[in-house]
Amino acid sequence: MIPMLDLKAQYAALKPELDAAVLGVLASAQYVLGDEVAAFEREFAAYCGAAHGIAVNSGTSALHLALLAAGVGPGDEVVTVPFTFVATVSAICYIGARPVFVDVEPAGLTMDPARLEAAITPRTKAILPVHLYGQTADMAPIMEIAGRHGIPVVEDACQAHGAEYRGRRAGGIGVSGCFSFYPGKNLGACGEGGMIVASDERQAKTMRMLRDWGQSQRYHHEVKGFNYRMDGIQGAILRVKLRHLDAWTEARRAHAGRYMRALAGSSRARPPAELVGRRHVYHVYAVRTPERDRLRRSLEEAGIQTGLHYPVPVHLQRAHADLGHRAGDFPVSEAAAREMLSLPIFPEMTAQQIAAVVGAMHEDAHVG
Ligand SMILES: Cc1ncc(COP(=O)(O)O)c(C=O)c1O
Repeated sequence: MIPMLDLKAQYAALKPELDAAVLGVLASAQYVLGDEVAAFEREFAAYCGAAHGIAVNSGTSALHLALLAAGVGPGDEVVTVPFTFVATVSAICYIGARPVFVDVEPAGLTMDPARLEAAITPRTKAILPVHLYGQTADMAPIMEIAGRHGIPVVEDACQAHGAEYRGRRAGGIGVSGCFSFYPGKNLGACGEGGMIVASDERQAKTMRMLRDWGQSQRYHHEVKGFNYRMDGIQGAILRVKLRHLDAWTEARRAHAGRYMRALAGSSRARPPAELVGRRHVYHVYAVRTPERDRLRRSLEEAGIQTGLHYPVPVHLQRAHADLGHRAGDFPVSEAAAREMLSLPIFPEMTAQQIAAVVGAMHEDAHVG
């Protein structure tokens, strides 16, 4: 059995450090926010090359607050992509704003800058590209177009901890960047967690208030806020894990290299492209194959877990039918939803496990 990820192996490797971190918080009784969370905010913001970090209770909350702080309100439009996890779009809807979709480009499956300008209207208040699978969107043309229109760019970096675009870290390029620390992420909590990293001090201050009931000081509520605070235990755990993130990323990249070399000859399962100027952190290792569902079944029979990220693009989800889209509106996203298959990748994986996955793919007559 080869799983998609192995969180028990990660815990086993870090047990003494993680146990001590958790016990430290239990003893301090700083269960919500507190010193460990504040230290993690400083450390993770610095890691991303951003001035401020605002820790919250999920990536979805991070997106919600980042859009509010960027000035998005009810009835405004936010331009994003349909080929993403639904949370990207839900955060826009939380505000009562309207998601406006731009299709992705075929190579990286991130926002197609060539289609962006046509989606901008006088109501556009933010642009929300998604750094899918651990590779950033093509940020230079996106920032250029946004700058020309005076529209802030909020990065959905929930899958891209440590990814780089032309030497700059994901999350530190736009006005703010949103991260998820859901357990399976490259940097994962032992529960839910998220963070916004931001360059603008005023926006950072607003988000700090918004996550904590809009308080400037206890029981003095400046704005209508939320209970989006990070737990102390998660902050302490994430500080420990952040120290291992670069080594984990290197391991993921080495695994991706092995997959890439082994799949180079396959005409039926195309490995992901690492695009020029980008450092992919391989949160997801997704190959493209026209026989996706059949290949998935044969890998499952060989004891190999796979995933689908994502089988239905957001514009075709029933939950968002009110937006009035139909099949054919975003053909690149729709083709990706049919053809992308995620293979196991996690730092603790062995070269033998990679060889076993590739072996099972080659045994599948349609792929080899
Ligand atoms: C692209 C993307 N955006 C947003 C989210 C939401 O993060 P969370 O699950 O922490 O709320 C995720 C995580 O699953 C994600 O992958």
